[in-house]
Amino acid sequence: MAEIIYNKKKADNIYKMKIRGEFKGKQGQFYMIKSENTFLNRPISIHDIDGDGITFLYQVKGEGTKYFSKLNEGNEIKLYGPLGNHFELPNENLTLIGGGIGTAPLYLVAKRFKEKYRDKKLAVYLGFTKESYETEIYSKLADELYIDIGGIITNKVKIADDTTYFACGPEIMMKSAWKRIHSDKLFVSLESKMACGVGACLGCNIETKGGNKKVCKDGPVFNAAEVYDE
Ligand SMILES: Cc1cc2nc3c(=O)[nH]c(=O)nc-3n(C[C@H](O)[C@H](O)[C@H](O)COP(=O)(O)OP(=O)(O)OC[C@H]3O[C@@H](n4cnc5c(N)ncnc54)[C@H](O)[C@@H]3O)c2cc1C
Ligand code: FES
Repeated sequence: MAEIIYNKKKADNIYKMKIRGEFKGKQGQFYMIKSENTFLNRPISIHDIDGDGITFLYQVKGEGTKYFSKLNEGNEIKLYGPLGNHFELPNENLTLIGGGIGTAPLYLVAKRFKEKYRDKKLAVYLGFTKESYETEIYSKLADELYIDIGGIITNKVKIADDTTYFACGPEIMMKSAWKRIHSDKLFVSLESKMACGVGACLGCNIETKGGNKKVCKDGPVFNAAEVYDE
């Protein structure tokens, strides 16, 4: 069990929860968090890790995340991780594309990228349907920051040869990123319903060009060329 430092509402149905402790994890990995409302744990990406604990940014969708939203400072919660693969930081310019709650894992990517490659350019594109949230945290990290509400964020992305692209968001946004960028330098973080989170139940299988893959263990990060059609 770990203690909640805070659990703050950031926008309609969007919460940021920090949990005290020494947590490990790479950018793009996730934790399985126990909800007392549901039998199965819920996968949530690492939003940030620092000396005090781990932070998650989440959207209330159903019973599991509703349970999280009711927790308060000082309450305790069970979680295990880090799980899955991660976004491998490139030694070249990096562009991040996030849609809605898909922006959640991108903050740790931005932070770690700028710690490692200060001289490389970081562009961040964040798209939201109605209301933006947690965008100001990128202003000190990003060399270029684009925020869009109600439009199609992928249309704004500048394409260059010396750039790697990471995307996380609704499937329609990632397919649109693939159409526009169409390069094996585009990596996407996929979602799938999960049960165990550790590769044991086959509940999160997806079809890829290289055969069936488990989102929890082989992913959640995949090369877009492996999962989307020409
Ligand atoms: C690797 C990974 C990382 C994730 N990171 C985050 C994150 O950082 N923040 C965040 O808010 N959410 C994240 N999610 C999604 C989150 O796990 C689901 O929204 C959550 O499990 C829903 O649980 P629930 O009990 O609240 O809703 P449920 O009652 O289980 O579902 C409510 C609705 O959401 C749909 N849904 C449930 N789980 C998923 C899923 N995994 N993918 C797509 N649709 C789903 C259901 O079909 C249903 O329509 C992540 C998912 C994965 C696989
Ligand atoms: S969730 Fe069980 S194998 Fe992926």
